[in-house]
Amino acid sequence: MRRLVILTGAGISAESGIPTFRDPGGVWEKYDLEQVATPEGFRRNPDLVHEFYNARRRDLLRVEPNAAHLALAELERSWPGEFLLVTQNVDDLHERAGSRRVIHIHGELLKVRCEVCGRVFRETGKIFTRTPCPFCGKPGGLRPHVVWFGETPFHLEEVYEALIRCELFVAIGTSGTVYPAAGFVEVARRAGAHCVELNLKPAENAHLFHEHRYGPATRVVPEWVREVLEESLSGSGKAL
Ligand code: OAD
Repeated sequence: MRRLVILTGAGISAESGIPTFRDPGGVWEKYDLEQVATPEGFRRNPDLVHEFYNARRRDLLRVEPNAAHLALAELERSWPGEFLLVTQNVDDLHERAGSRRVIHIHGELLKVRCEVCGRVFRETGKIFTRTPCPFCGKPGGLRPHVVWFGETPFHLEEVYEALIRCELFVAIGTSGTVYPAAGFVEVARRAGAHCVELNLKPAENAHLFHEHRYGPATRVVPEWVREVLEESLSGSGKAL
């Protein structure tokens, strides 16, 4: 099995100190999703939405990648075949851990987009409703470069191209509740891929996976990576 697609969700970054969305104490317990993660919410109250993302950007700069991110970067460096890491996370912890082929289908927290001129640029600080775009100079057009509910995720064509060819599909730390990502396993299954779930507890779509490993990502991901690399390097195991 040389063609590998990995999907990650908030669970992989939890032990770095970034709260997940739906676990107890998660983001959607503290904030109203409709207010801070929809285009309508942004139109109604852009100050609140900027405040929410400014705080998340600040928090992201205070945390570090963990052993699970590092293990996936090592897997990419050593993997003998095609490799694609698809993440629903807007953090940059995969990149900071050394991953190179990463697709952020829900956008990136450290990027901002100008809805007037269309430029996307890196931003680590705060933005406000009237902050002018550094490129076109117009105020009022900046928004986080993240995908909100009701918007189309990014780069789906590239993701599906990889899914319909993949032989091994692994979902890590995601609740399997938000589509289209929750449906990727079905596409991979139809392609004949072996599907593995690495999670703290079973996801909503757990029944669609062939294999499950439950536990914290910093333990189960490095363990699984070690195994698949051993199998692929020995050339004898089921991973080849
Ligand atoms: P969720 O918060 O829905 O799910 C987190 C998953 O991580 C659950 O399956 C937990 O069991 C698991 N988990 C928690 N701690 C873990 C740990 N230490 N190790 C391993 N797994 C752990 O997050 P996502 O599935 O990523 O979208 O959510 C999907 C999307 O919904 C997000 O990208 C975001 C959100 O609303 C948008 O905002 C558009």
